[in-house]
Amino acid sequence: MKILVIGSGAREHAICEALSSDSNQIFCAPRNDGMNHSGIRTVPILENDFEGLVNFAIKENIAFTIVGPEEPLVNGVVDFFEAHGLRIFGPNKKAARIEGSKAFTKSLLKLASIPTAEFCEFTEFSLAEKYIKRKSDYPLVIKADGLAAGKGVYIVENQDDALNVVSELLNSHKFETHKVVIEEYLDGEEFSLMAFVNNGKFYPMPAAQDYKKLNNGDKGPNTGGMGAVCPVKNISESIYNQAINKVLKPFVDILVEEGIKYTGVLYAGLILTNKGIKVIEFNVRFGDPETEVVLPRLQTNLSNVIFSILNDDIPEIHWKNSGLDLGVFISSKGYPEAPIKDATLGSTESFDSLNCKINYAGIKMKDTSFWTNGGRLFVLKTHSENLLDAQREIYTNVKKLDHTNIFYRTDIGNNSI
Ligand code: AMP
Ligand code: GLY
Repeated sequence: MKILVIGSGAREHAICEALSSDSNQIFCAPRNDGMNHSGIRTVPILENDFEGLVNFAIKENIAFTIVGPEEPLVNGVVDFFEAHGLRIFGPNKKAARIEGSKAFTKSLLKLASIPTAEFCEFTEFSLAEKYIKRKSDYPLVIKADGLAAGKGVYIVENQDDALNVVSELLNSHKFETHKVVIEEYLDGEEFSLMAFVNNGKFYPMPAAQDYKKLNNGDKGPNTGGMGAVCPVKNISESIYNQAINKVLKPFVDILVEEGIKYTGVLYAGLILTNKGIKVIEFNVRFGDPETEVVLPRLQTNLSNVIFSILNDDIPEIHWKNSGLDLGVFISSKGYPEAPIKDATLGSTESFDSLNCKINYAGIKMKDTSFWTNGGRLFVLKTHSENLLDAQREIYTNVKKLDHTNIFYRTDIGNNSI
């Protein structure tokens, strides 16, 4: 089967790996040089060039396409492919609003009585200001409504910071936002639960954990994710089942009731508070970097799972149930605010000699060296019997790399100790 994967990050690299088999030919558009270097066929068509992607899929007789990132989904890539009679795995534009608008998702959660943080929405600065001036309980969470590449969430500790953030979002329209959601701060263990969804039916993946904060000990600003682990030690089977029955199932049901046809991966960002599981967010795609550690646990080829779902059949899905998968994201120094640009990372040979798997993201190749091409560069990942072995393997390997221009956390997985 010929399969096209849309996207250019470590998540898409992991998706390509999970699809790979002797009988599959995988193409990834647009590309990153690291993927090419790893032997993946890449196609230089941008993820929002829907016409280019459709022409390629027709020309190559692609059996189906999988969409990695949220932006093309929110912009309607699925509707565009389907209008050309092509098969594609992901939600259509209407369903992708779940990620495109936090306010829309909050309204669905309310309808389905799924627990989430108390919240208010504002489009006018003066009203948000009045609300904030009456608030005395901090921290408070302020979110840009709309896509913000994982950077549109602020946890503020006092009134001045709250007013500054809301002004940045509603007056200066950072992230092109015209609406903010201000919500209650939730405290607890965060975890991610993804599922393959086929219009009312769903097939959950194992729970994973994303280390979102920049620094060790979960300190510093939010990032696109500094590492991930699967499974999550502190999430027991009973909590996992509760997440399925009290969050995923009612959410998939409310989508059907509201006439929102959803096919694709659904991602629930959850938190286990002392009042039970609550929803932090829903996304309409594979999580990044969770996918890099969840898909290696899939023992069925991913192409069979998706092919069955696209045929409206029940997929056969088997997961590894022993050991642990750990991934550590290596980023450019200065990430997330000002990642160092065009900086050398060392020879490709130094990467090839590492004893763990690599999923590449913001990286480019010049001659025989890798260079930075974005904030998050690549994930080093491994499967081991236990966390300490996994950490030892990854951190021994990362030490072999040139550290001049890179940054990473040294405690990924520690929440599971
Ligand atoms: P989101 O983009 O909504 O997933 O938020 C990114 C991160 O911000 C989450 O993974 C949490 O770490 C944090 N966050 C978001 N909403 C809340 C909340 N209500 N309480 C505490 N932390 C939150
Ligand atoms: N890991 C968070 C996300 O994919 O949005």
